[in-house]
Amino acid sequence: MSTLVIIGAQWGDEAKGKIVDVLGAEAEFVVRYSGGNNAGHTVIVGDEEFKFHLLPAGILYPHVVAVLGGGMAVCPRSLVEELDRTLAKRPEIGTLVVSPAAHVVLPYHKLLDQLEEEARGSNKIGTTSRGIGPCYTDKVQRTGIRMGELVEPNVFRERLSDVLKVKNQLLAMFGHPPIDFNALYTEYLGYAERLRPYVKDCELLLQTAVKEGKRVLFEGAQGTFLDLDHGTYPYVTSSHPVSGGACLGTGVGPRDIDSVLGVCKAYTTRVGSGPLPTELTDAVGDRIRGQGHEYGTTTGRPRRCGWLDLAALRHSCRINSLSGLVLTRIDVLAGFDEVRAATHYSKDGQKLAHFPCCVHEWEGVEPVWTTMPGWDGDIRSARSLEDLPQSARNYIRFVEEQTETPVAILSVGPDRAETIVLRPDLVWI
Ligand code: GDP
Ligand code: IMO
Ligand code: MG
Repeated sequence: MSTLVIIGAQWGDEAKGKIVDVLGAEAEFVVRYSGGNNAGHTVIVGDEEFKFHLLPAGILYPHVVAVLGGGMAVCPRSLVEELDRTLAKRPEIGTLVVSPAAHVVLPYHKLLDQLEEEARGSNKIGTTSRGIGPCYTDKVQRTGIRMGELVEPNVFRERLSDVLKVKNQLLAMFGHPPIDFNALYTEYLGYAERLRPYVKDCELLLQTAVKEGKRVLFEGAQGTFLDLDHGTYPYVTSSHPVSGGACLGTGVGPRDIDSVLGVCKAYTTRVGSGPLPTELTDAVGDRIRGQGHEYGTTTGRPRRCGWLDLAALRHSCRINSLSGLVLTRIDVLAGFDEVRAATHYSKDGQKLAHFPCCVHEWEGVEPVWTTMPGWDGDIRSARSLEDLPQSARNYIRFVEEQTETPVAILSVGPDRAETIVLRPDLVWI
């Protein structure tokens, strides 16, 4: 096996960063393929904590080529800051390559993200305010500026002067003062100078790596139910976090993907608005948030918490054609007498056969629960399945049965060592 896609199987923050860090030790390439600095991927190495927003988590390994794929929305200012922050802690990092096809997030995207959210009033999406939606809007509208254009001063000047005229008209509609062309151009020329050495073709680079049997790890961002097409639209992000996005966002074709692992928490969280069928707005939800320190890595917002949603997870296994699951944070549920999981949904007393599509279909949808004995004790020191309490093992088995998908890796804590590989055939360690 040489190509492995890691995706978020729920609503994001499943601990993809930790898993990419663990698997990245054996990878030669680690590739982000969608989203931008709306992502927040935490990696703990000993006493050090790294929060990656744009850089692939695998960049911590000096032997890794860390790629920002063409499907991404890249904020040059944030990328330069993140690069400097990382280099200050780790002077020896992997080799960075940024696709010229990736779209550039510019200050007007960020402003429009905030202004559009304000205009939505009570229908807010709850975005991360990073300008991601407006940047991808430009991409679809065919007015976006790409990294390959940013690093060519004359091309960038021409593109920016055309686009900015329209953006300033839009800003005026919101009653916002215009952005000055010269100030913006000069600032971004500085980032372009700094980033130019990294902007190189990625498609042939990755296609050749795959052909040569090199280990390529694709690092998903966000989660399946935040996907523009497969998520709980309109409460989604504007890119493709699902496994199919790895092909779209890199130029590696579907037959070249060997394995897909879906990272999921032992429970459910979501930041921002939109359906969350198993959400607990009571003391139990507060307890999960407290035990799991469930606050956003990017925005610090409290995450909405609930029991595991197996109906959603089953759907996710199919959409992403998962080879296996990576079940994380089972340590967080320690201490509950009983744990619950929703096996399916019902509406008007009828079992729902499909995952609701349009947002109005979620009205009146109720989770149907299974309650199981909980577990206690020092879960984080477990290093094999046998070290876990029987009730935790039963829970894992139940997840496998309900999703018809094997749990390939278990994560029992944030550290690299707190990882149990159950199915080495589905991973490469
Ligand atoms: P990502 O966006 O999917 O990479 O996830 P985040 O980094 O936003 O959030 C996951 C959080 O869980 C981070 O703070 C990790 O350090 C932490 N973490 C990862 N695995 C585990 C685990 O098995 N148990 C616990 N308690 N924390 C974990
Ligand atoms: P990682 O990679 C959790 C959510 C936002 C909001 C919606 C749209 O760390 O798992 P956007 O700024 O993308 O237009 O916001 O998507 N969101 C995330 N939630 N984890 C993330 O990334 C997220 N990236 C975006 O909270 O609801
Ligand atoms: Mg995160």
